[in-house]
Amino acid sequence: MAVDGKREGGQRMREIVDLSAYGADFTADPYKYYAKLRAQGPVHRVLVPHGPEAWLVVGHDATRAALTDPRLSKNWRSAAALSDGSDETALFTNMLDADPPEHTRLRKLVAKEFTPRRVEALRPRVQQITDELLDAMLAAPDRRADLVESLAFPLPMTVICELIGVPAIDRQAFRGWSNELVAPTSEEAAQRATVEMAEYLTDLIEASRAQPTDGLLSALIRTSDEDGDQLSREELIGTAFLLLVAGHETTVGLLSNGVRALLQHPAQLAALRADLSLLDNAVEEMLRYDGPVSTATWRFAAAPVELGGTLIPAGEPVLIALASASRDPERFASADDFDITRDARGHAAFGHGIHFCLGAPLARLEARIAIPSLLERCPDLALDIAPEALVWRTGMLMRGTEQLPVRW
Ligand code: HEM
Repeated sequence: MAVDGKREGGQRMREIVDLSAYGADFTADPYKYYAKLRAQGPVHRVLVPHGPEAWLVVGHDATRAALTDPRLSKNWRSAAALSDGSDETALFTNMLDADPPEHTRLRKLVAKEFTPRRVEALRPRVQQITDELLDAMLAAPDRRADLVESLAFPLPMTVICELIGVPAIDRQAFRGWSNELVAPTSEEAAQRATVEMAEYLTDLIEASRAQPTDGLLSALIRTSDEDGDQLSREELIGTAFLLLVAGHETTVGLLSNGVRALLQHPAQLAALRADLSLLDNAVEEMLRYDGPVSTATWRFAAAPVELGGTLIPAGEPVLIALASASRDPERFASADDFDITRDARGHAAFGHGIHFCLGAPLARLEARIAIPSLLERCPDLALDIAPEALVWRTGMLMRGTEQLPVRW
């Protein structure tokens, strides 16, 4: 997208920060770049690597203001700025791509079935899957493994597939499509993954209609609110897609980033081992210190919005750096320190406002089971790679390493 030179309110001369100029170093450690930007102001005009020019929100207060501002729209179908004219598919007919009143309606119907009670009921199964994965990992004769492949990926993947009702046999295909969508290898591959996933989910919904199970998908097909309102076929496809991708791609980062933070901060690890009552707080600090979702999903200014003293003109894309908000020293003292005893409340890892993560209770449950189980079974757990050699997931959305080699 070109700068059109017609911006309102003195924005014309504003400097554009080219984030792609920071190269791979930005992916490995975006925090130092965010810190520099925050010191200059809460909102910046940036060029996103492999993406458009956009407004980047980096301050904590501005992040919360942006995430609750109804003029920042999530309904990209109505916003011209990023629309490339490609086919809209049912995959994106979901709450995360909707504004009120559609958002309210969709979230209410889904929340009616994806309840804290349903999540809590998963506890024994999450423990069992964790134990089985750790049994397999600990069988390695050289006492080494990639923690992403052994635990951080398969645990959330198995849990979300079982919760929704995706048969075990289809999960590898799903992994491929899901990866392609959040970190595309090429435009064609991403397009192909979109089409294949939509076809797959359409068939899965038809199969669940014909033969209902006690899984969440069958519950979503069945459910209706007090007025008899139900999810349409497109909305079911979009919702299944959202839950499966969110469940696949995020918690893996909480587990791997969280364990990495512990292994790189031995005093914090020792404190947690010595007192497991710190666990819940430690998980919040993991989310604050190095959360798996670095920026919120794209928003668009449906009308001119003033944010942190900057006027964002109508129609422009906005990216909110949750990772930066969670490290804002104006909100968190010694924000760059990993401290499992601090009060980490107010972190932005799950977003804020009406789109606050619906899966947060599930993500927390998995971390609160997997991390102590891992520590208990591996008293000598250590990183098995020099931190500089870690390979980071590309793109601005997800934060995490491709692998996490460990030994015990
Ligand atoms: C540690 C793991 C997770 C993190 C850090 C995370 C983060 C987020 C964030 C930041 C948002 C808001 C995005 C935005 O406003 O642009 C979000 C929304 C959402 N998340 Fe999560 N998520 C996690 C796990 C999950 C899981 C396991 C599920 C479901 C199984 C899930 C389901 C959702 C849904 C449905 C939304 C959309 C809510 C709405 O639009 O109202 N998330 N998540």
